[in-house]
Amino acid sequence: MIQTKKKLVILTGAGISAESGLKTFRDSDGLWEGYNIEEVATPRAWKKNPQLVLEFYNCRRKNVLEARPNAAHYGLAELENDFDVHIITQNIDDLHERAGSVKIIHLHGEIFKMRSEKDEHLIYEIRDDIRMGDVAKDGAQLRPHIVWFEEPVPLIEEAARITATADIFVVVGTSLVVYPAAGLVNYASPEIPKFILDQRVPDTSSVYNIKAIEKKATEGIPDLKQMLLRL
Ligand code: APR
Repeated sequence: MIQTKKKLVILTGAGISAESGLKTFRDSDGLWEGYNIEEVATPRAWKKNPQLVLEFYNCRRKNVLEARPNAAHYGLAELENDFDVHIITQNIDDLHERAGSVKIIHLHGEIFKMRSEKDEHLIYEIRDDIRMGDVAKDGAQLRPHIVWFEEPVPLIEEAARITATADIFVVVGTSLVVYPAAGLVNYASPEIPKFILDQRVPDTSSVYNIKAIEKKATEGIPDLKQMLLRL
């Protein structure tokens, strides 16, 4: 008899990559690697000082190149043996990919991609730096393929559709303060089992049927796995 695997949708955030050495955004006094987010991650910043924005993301790209997936990324990839796993990540790193996860949506873009500042569909791979004067096929300056604050999130509808058909919903390492990503949990059917793993679990009192595991991502993954396999 063929048994279809349960659909397990996992929303991840910066906390899952913290133990790989990539800094989270809100654990450090509103500064992100010493930068004010407003000055590097908004369309206004790009207009005002594109050089600074490029420098910031060139740095992030180097950090990600030096980082390795940790046990939490690998743990989620292994869940594919037992579940139909869909990762929806807010992270711009590629650590889920490198750990072996297959179905991944990057809600907030990808650090190893760049695009025309005029045409969001002109996208290219990039492993090293983007410089001022680097242009796309349409002649426009290239910018990081990142969804900045105040920009629409093109993949949110697809993510919401996937979440709405989940059998189980899991959240790992996100403060759940940035919308629309944080609102995804409301698309999951109220009855399905939900879990949240975070070293400081955010308030989820309005979410029905959710269990919290308050641990670091790498330490909590074995607990999560056990709970999932017992369902
Ligand atoms: N293990 C588990 N959780 C951790 C760990 C860890 N080792 N380290 C930090 N955390 C948790 C924190 O407790 C917090 O809840 O990870 C979360 C990180 O929250 P944020 O820094 O706000 O990151 P995230 O929720 O991913 O941010 C969302 O905001 O800045 C924008 O676009 C950016 O995608 C990002 C979005």
